[in-house]
Amino acid sequence: MDASGAPPLLLAAAAFAAAALVWLFVARPSRRGSARLPPGSTGLPLIGETLRLISAYKTPNPEPFIDERVARHGSGVFTTHVFGERTVFSADPAFNRLLLAAEGRAVDCSYPSSITTLLGPHSLLLTRGPAHKRLHSLTLTRLGRPASPPLLAHIDRLILATMRDWEPAATVRLLDEAKKVTFNLTVKQLVSIDPGPWTESVRREYVKLIDGFFSIPFPFAHLLPFTTYGQALKARKKVAGALREVISRRMDEKLVDRAADSGEDEKIEKKDMVQELLEAEDGSFSVEEMVDFCLSLLVAGYETTSVLMTLAVKFLTETPTALAQLKVPYSFPVLYLEVCQGYPTNQPKEEHENIRDIKGKNQPLEWSDYKSMPFTQCVINETLRVANLISGVFRRANTDIQFKDYIIPKGCKIFASFRAVHLNTEHYENARTFDPWRWQSKNKLQNAVGASLFTPFGGGPRLCPGYELARVVVSVFLHHLVTRFSWEEAEEDRIVFFPTTRTLKGYPINLRRRPNSVA
Ligand code: HEM
Ligand SMILES: *[C@@H]1O[C@H](CO)[C@@H](O)[C@H](O)[C@H]1NC(C)=O
Ligand SMILES: *[C@@H]1O[C@H](CO)[C@@H](O)[C@H](O)[C@H]1NC(C)=O
Repeated sequence: MDASGAPPLLLAAAAFAAAALVWLFVARPSRRGSARLPPGSTGLPLIGETLRLISAYKTPNPEPFIDERVARHGSGVFTTHVFGERTVFSADPAFNRLLLAAEGRAVDCSYPSSITTLLGPHSLLLTRGPAHKRLHSLTLTRLGRPASPPLLAHIDRLILATMRDWEPAATVRLLDEAKKVTFNLTVKQLVSIDPGPWTESVRREYVKLIDGFFSIPFPFAHLLPFTTYGQALKARKKVAGALREVISRRMDEKLVDRAADSGEDEKIEKKDMVQELLEAEDGSFSVEEMVDFCLSLLVAGYETTSVLMTLAVKFLTETPTALAQLKVPYSFPVLYLEVCQGYPTNQPKEEHENIRDIKGKNQPLEWSDYKSMPFTQCVINETLRVANLISGVFRRANTDIQFKDYIIPKGCKIFASFRAVHLNTEHYENARTFDPWRWQSKNKLQNAVGASLFTPFGGGPRLCPGYELARVVVSVFLHHLVTRFSWEEAEEDRIVFFPTTRTLKGYPINLRRRPNSVA
């Protein structure tokens, strides 16, 4: 996807779809008489189907929970009762598309209060209406353009620095390493601070904050400082305090700069998220708004990007032919090359070695290199499809919503499941197998995004603003990993889906530096 062209286009398409939707949902007279809630069972009183859902998601194969219900009710949309509330569950791509596009109109996103407290009132995830629109497009402009040279150079440099810390033969927990590098990168992009004592002390608190998101807080947990949630609230204050200090300093500097008109070089170097915020809306954002905003970006990209990195490596390890295609010489049957668009036939076909050969050993990656990793993009898409880091999104109906013969009443909670669509054999052949090659036959999956058959980053007004950045970071990481190291699993590890998607042991691997690689 082209970084400069796609987001506005996507947004325009979303706006169009949303306009059409207002007509569909609101303008059409509802046929209340015949319409009803989608079919379903609400399970045991009070806890509903929560326990069944959680136990399904704790197994390596949670799909039956959805499969069973879809089969039983003969519908991709059914009613269940999870996390204390009646919830309409959608496994239907058409309904998911409507829900994503209707954000801010017929539906609004919905988070439990325990989470909104941790995020802070000015977080992008909680902002609504016109303010959300402005902040979202600002974020998309900033993060959706990792092509800008300093940004890609930072990514390249920080990822290499992490790998240099690994011994020539080391056992690492890949998820831990991925988290470190993701955190360092995000801090760099937000406030231009390089890893050091400051990032280290913020990270210690930050990790406690993240734990809070995945604890299930009981009433009054915030009053009990020894609970995970209570710890998280304390940690939030410290992280916010550290950010507040940096942002206040930058505000002061800006005033001085204005007076002195300092050198251009420094301005370019400081072109980070805080700079963007300081310049936006005629500098009218308050410190607290900027703090919440930065904190929510730090949170939103952390687990997702680091788990994506880890699982891409895990799937590649388990699919040696795919890994081979990424790094070592590989001979392609001619027929295969024809379906494989974008692959110049006169070049060797191993993606990353090839880039290194052309660039020489120590040259940092550039945008054009990122653009010449087509198979890596297939691997990343396939990892996103199979792993479903964000399994879906919660919405709440602002009005009665009609879909097919059903009416979903105003106030009802709705879950748009991406996982149910991504793993449905109707939409993907052998849907539960990791098969990166499926992305090469473009004509087959061309409409996957348009038809909401592939929505790992959501869509509509809340489309993930980090979607291109996450791809770039993981691509650069894979590039340096496969050209410098070989590895095998140190212990058997498996994926779990609750409370979040990750591997049970953080994927420990034995690394060996490849003999002719650079340090
Ligand atoms: C593999 C990586 C990622 C995945 C799978 C992912 C997925 C998503 C999804 C599905 C949403 C939509 C939520 C909704 O509609 O309610 C979202 C929103 C968001 N993402 Fe990501 N994300 C990833 C990486 C990132 C990164 C790297 C950042 C930033 C540094 C980021 C920042 C955000 C923010 C701020 C939102 C909220 C947007 C809004 O509410 O307007 N994400 N993400
Ligand atoms: C990233 O940060 C961690 C902890 O803050 C630090 O230990 C590590 O050295 C940093 N890594 C890089 C690559 O700079
Ligand atoms: C991967 O998915 C994105 C949507 O997230 C899509 O735009 C892109 O074309 C896909 N890449 C490949 C190689 O199919």
